[in-house]
Amino acid sequence: MSQSVNLGGIFTPTGTSLALKRVGYGAMQLTGSMVWGPPRDREGAIKVLREAVRLGVNHIDTSDYYGPHIANEIIREALHPYPKELAIVTKVGARRAPDKSWPAALSKKEIVGAVHDNLRHLGLDVLDVVNLRVDDSGLTDGSLAEPLTVLTDLQAQGLVKHIGLSNISYRQFVDGRAIAEIVCVQNHYNLAFRHDDRLIDELSSLGIAFVPFFPLGGFRSLQSPILDAAAASLGASTRQVALAWLLQRSPNILTIAGTSSVEHLHENLKAATLQLPSETVAQLNEIATVKKSPRV
Ligand SMILES: NC(=O)c1ccc[n+]([C@@H]2O[C@H](COP(=O)([O-])OP(=O)(O)OC[C@H]3O[C@@H](n4cnc5c(N)ncnc54)[C@H](OP(=O)(O)O)[C@@H]3O)[C@@H](O)[C@H]2O)c1
Repeated sequence: MSQSVNLGGIFTPTGTSLALKRVGYGAMQLTGSMVWGPPRDREGAIKVLREAVRLGVNHIDTSDYYGPHIANEIIREALHPYPKELAIVTKVGARRAPDKSWPAALSKKEIVGAVHDNLRHLGLDVLDVVNLRVDDSGLTDGSLAEPLTVLTDLQAQGLVKHIGLSNISYRQFVDGRAIAEIVCVQNHYNLAFRHDDRLIDELSSLGIAFVPFFPLGGFRSLQSPILDAAAASLGASTRQVALAWLLQRSPNILTIAGTSSVEHLHENLKAATLQLPSETVAQLNEIATVKKSPRV
């Protein structure tokens, strides 16, 4: 039975009818280790997804290269036919090599193939949002014009509703916006890693969502005595404080913390109800090692 909880309100990117709850879920942790192969506990992965949706999550981040294919297959098994309010946001632009690395896959053939792989494995006729993940090594002169135009062609064909960008610099955002209507940007950002402060503020003024990946530090969880002290003073966990800080940082930030555990999922969703006092936010702002130095 569905039992929607407070997930921090809703953000609707300009030009869309998406009503994204601000606390979402990232599916990258649902595969085997190193985001490769099947998970140890497939039933557990299915339970996490069903619990997230039961509690009202309507924004799930994924990619067909998680596994590869595994995360999408598990999402389909757990949730198809999808609730109409659920937005599944996927990404293209990389592939997995046998050594488990993530080379760029930005040719026309690779992007068209990746969109079709996502459609097939998710069991969809159209993808809600596709992020173009940009890896400079796969671009001619750092320009994302070529792969982004392939994606806009797929949008014109009705296979993709909305387009986002991921792993981009400020300059690439500006260039990308001249080619496509961008509804979200997904970059590495958290309490300790704040390259994108300027970009976030600009996106906010434009009504574009910023969706930080590694919100909890990713493969190396956030560690800081300041964070420990804030969590202790508020009777919350460090993860909840890190997520609440993101939610308070800017109204266009949507969180997609990843977990393979129902218990951690419950903990993370509760971050939406944690209010950080302004003194605590000021202390937490001291943690950043990379701050307000935008990539150009
Ligand atoms: N665009 C990109 O290039 C890109 C890159 C990376 C990720 N992403 C997306 O961003 C999402 C979030 O990033 P992420 O999953 O890599 O990193 P993350 O959300 O920062 O952290 C996930 C890690 O934290 C652990 N965790 C989560 N909640 C916890 C809790 N309450 N207590 C203790 N440990 C907890 C997870 O382990 P457990 O499973 O044990 O909970 C996992 O090891 C991904 O799922 C993916 O969808 C995008």
